[in-house]
Amino acid sequence: MSVGGATITPVRLGGARGGPAARTLRKDRWWVQPTITVVLLTAFVVYSTWAVFVNKDYYVGAVAHRDLISPFFSPCVTGSCVAGAHGTFFVIYWWHITPALLILLGPLSFRVTCYYYRRAYYRGFWQSPPACAVADAHTRYTGETRFPLILQNLHRYFLYVALMFNTILTIDAVMAFRLPGDGGIGMSLGSLVLSANAILLWAYTLSCHAARHLCGGHVNTFSKHPIRYRIWKTLTPLNARHMQLAWASLIFVALTDLYVRLVAAGVFTDPKIF
Ligand code: FES
Repeated sequence: MSVGGATITPVRLGGARGGPAARTLRKDRWWVQPTITVVLLTAFVVYSTWAVFVNKDYYVGAVAHRDLISPFFSPCVTGSCVAGAHGTFFVIYWWHITPALLILLGPLSFRVTCYYYRRAYYRGFWQSPPACAVADAHTRYTGETRFPLILQNLHRYFLYVALMFNTILTIDAVMAFRLPGDGGIGMSLGSLVLSANAILLWAYTLSCHAARHLCGGHVNTFSKHPIRYRIWKTLTPLNARHMQLAWASLIFVALTDLYVRLVAAGVFTDPKIF
């Protein structure tokens, strides 16, 4: 069309809602990121489901002279936990199936409702939309205003659940420096793996948008809240790396389970450092 002597080409970025994904003007490889998301999340779901239902080799105790527990099974609070994996303070004796099914509800509720993961799996699995300026695969968009997606708004409360689990996994990491049997202290590769897992989980949780808002939100004048300002300033650079921390902590938590599993199954001995 021509307007005021200039030729204008009408452009419809992203095409029509519900159109084929190919309807985009983008020439770059926009499909790479959603594809990676689908591959990684599917791999995690398949592995963790297998680990949960195989329901063994999640704890290395006095027999191997190590105190290592898989993060998928901690805190092991059900009567079905293997001997030594649970304490005596709080035990749910009527739960007879795999304990991980109960335990993982906490951390998963936090991850599934995470703002970053929501963007990632809405794009990867729902194709809604697959990427910026690419046609949405669905004809209708209702956002997160109705059940079940309205539950995503509970994320800020699941933050407290995640903080509780991080504290428990940190205690597990500290306990991994204890040598069951003689009560001594030592360090093994397993101690370091559990410690790195706890550090990554803290970094991911503290980089959460809800955590940053908790510290710096609703503050009109930072000078009147110096401590909150300081915490907010500390969390902000972490928040900028939230995506990277989300993937690093997700992959490492699965690797930590795998490490404990291989040691518990006797595939190799946890190497002793001192
Ligand atoms: S926004 Fe990702 S964990 Fe809160």
